[in-house]
Amino acid sequence: MSIRSFSFCNKEVYLKKKQKMSKILWKPGTMIYPLPAVMVSCGGSPDEYNIITVSWTGTICTDPPMCYISVRPSRHSYEIIKRTGEFVINLTTRELAFATDWCGVKSGADHNKFSEMGLTPVKAEKVKAPLIGESPVNIECVVREIKELGTHHMFISEVVAVNAESEYFDRKTGVFRLYDANPICYSHGKYYETGLFIGKFGFSVKKKRKSEK
Ligand SMILES: Cc1cc2nc3c(=O)[nH]c(=O)nc-3n(C[C@H](O)[C@H](O)[C@H](O)COP(=O)(O)O)c2cc1C
Repeated sequence: MSIRSFSFCNKEVYLKKKQKMSKILWKPGTMIYPLPAVMVSCGGSPDEYNIITVSWTGTICTDPPMCYISVRPSRHSYEIIKRTGEFVINLTTRELAFATDWCGVKSGADHNKFSEMGLTPVKAEKVKAPLIGESPVNIECVVREIKELGTHHMFISEVVAVNAESEYFDRKTGVFRLYDANPICYSHGKYYETGLFIGKFGFSVKKKRKSEK
């Protein structure tokens, strides 16, 4: 795979663009995009297993590994996650985009999302909530704190296990190639597929080989 940064991701590109910039002031709002659109699975037993699509999610600490999801108390999943203190973050892909959207507009109060979407609940390693078998990465979480922020309550959680689909491990190098799973993201009301590789961590300071200069 070629690093496209050498052709268009360099300083000259934004220095040229700078001269044309002009800002429009918006009211304060949630504008950090793109974000993940994950499917969060929850439930202490099969009769209450549910899936809620969540974009207000992210990593907040490396060690211990911590992340958060923010959920409106009105969601069917809210009470389940609060009571069980556990959930699983399932990363989503192009193939799972339909189910991701559907689980984000239908409520578990009226639907069995696993069976209606043909998704497979798989036993997790450390929590009672199920993994979604079709997702390439399942992150098992235990709630450590709930912050009642306003419209959404933030579940600050510890990652207690990560399950990664074996088909995405490179057989020769052992490297996990998440991008082979076609991950998707969510930006201002729309879903996008990710995957255009533009450079590795630290590429901006990497010395160029003679042939790349
Ligand atoms: C892309 C997308 C992102 C969403 N992000 C969140 C979120 O971060 N927090 C939340 O409470 N609801 C979010 N929702 C809405 C819930 O997924 C939706 O209300 C769902 O029907 C709740 O399911 P439940 O009632 O079975 O829990 C999102 C929906 C979509 C489609």
